[in-house]
Amino acid sequence: MEPSGGRAPALQITVVGAGVIGLTTAVVLQRDGHRVQVIAAERGERTTSAAAAALWYPFQASPPERVNAWSRRTLDELTRIAREHPEAGVDLVTCLEAADETRLPWWAPCVPDLSIDAGPHPLGAPRSFRFTAPRVEPSLHLPWLESRLERPVRVERVRSLAAVEGDCVVNCTGLGARALTGDAELRALYGQVAITEPGELSPDVALGDERSESALMYVIPRRREIVIGGCVVPSPDDRSLAPDPELTDAMLQRVRAAGLAPGRLIRARAGLRPYRNTVRLEREGRVIHNYGHGGAGYTLAWGCADEVSAMLRHVDASTRCCV
Ligand code: BEZ
Repeated sequence: MEPSGGRAPALQITVVGAGVIGLTTAVVLQRDGHRVQVIAAERGERTTSAAAAALWYPFQASPPERVNAWSRRTLDELTRIAREHPEAGVDLVTCLEAADETRLPWWAPCVPDLSIDAGPHPLGAPRSFRFTAPRVEPSLHLPWLESRLERPVRVERVRSLAAVEGDCVVNCTGLGARALTGDAELRALYGQVAITEPGELSPDVALGDERSESALMYVIPRRREIVIGGCVVPSPDDRSLAPDPELTDAMLQRVRAAGLAPGRLIRARAGLRPYRNTVRLEREGRVIHNYGHGGAGYTLAWGCADEVSAMLRHVDASTRCCV
């Protein structure tokens, strides 16, 4: 199809990766009129995205200006989805983020209703940043994204990006990008969460204390359960994803020590965040890389997908290839 009215020609695009980044990118590119096929080694419950706490919050992602723009775009889109598609598993919650001082955080520009509470934070800090943010339920959201695709996800491990079919290939493989690209900047950061019954915790207020990586703590309500975390542990790529029971106990203890009363432990989950000093979102020949979102995949997904979409508006109409 040739370009018309300023639109790029419809392309045959393969998105590699079926976590939140890959699926969101595929949905956006399909919306643009491209023919999109997702291929992934794992999908659904077996992805890192399925293990994530999945609250919108620009955690462990850089560079700040681009992250703020991507985060703001994603906040707006997830807010729209929360209002229009309850089945997508996105809800708006009040967030109280622990703060030592009244200086605004670096991510303040992307939060429209940020304010500072003078009183102590429920997890023990002197103050709180208060704002509204979308919280995603991965077990609903990942299938919802998949359901919007015209072609089902093909489960298959890609060993070479060069061998993948399509006019363009979008590399959304998270940590898998190291084997595919040799990217030495990409590192695995282990995360673990405990999922409990709600107990006496609020169903619509999320608490976070990210002031220190070694004492990271969050309490995030879902529709029927609570997610308690967390940790950031640099790890080898082949670290076991069997949750460490001592770590689970320690996380629950810290929350109880703050005077909160979560209900019974239901399960624990672990995953390896694909961390890079800066998110890699750039074109390399026929490939567009979109990986390295650290602990902020759900926070950046729509903004990054839009940027991929914009890159593809500059395709060469005669060769139908990224230029
Ligand atoms: C996270 O919330 O960033 C996360 C938690 C557990 C596993 C993977 C990621």
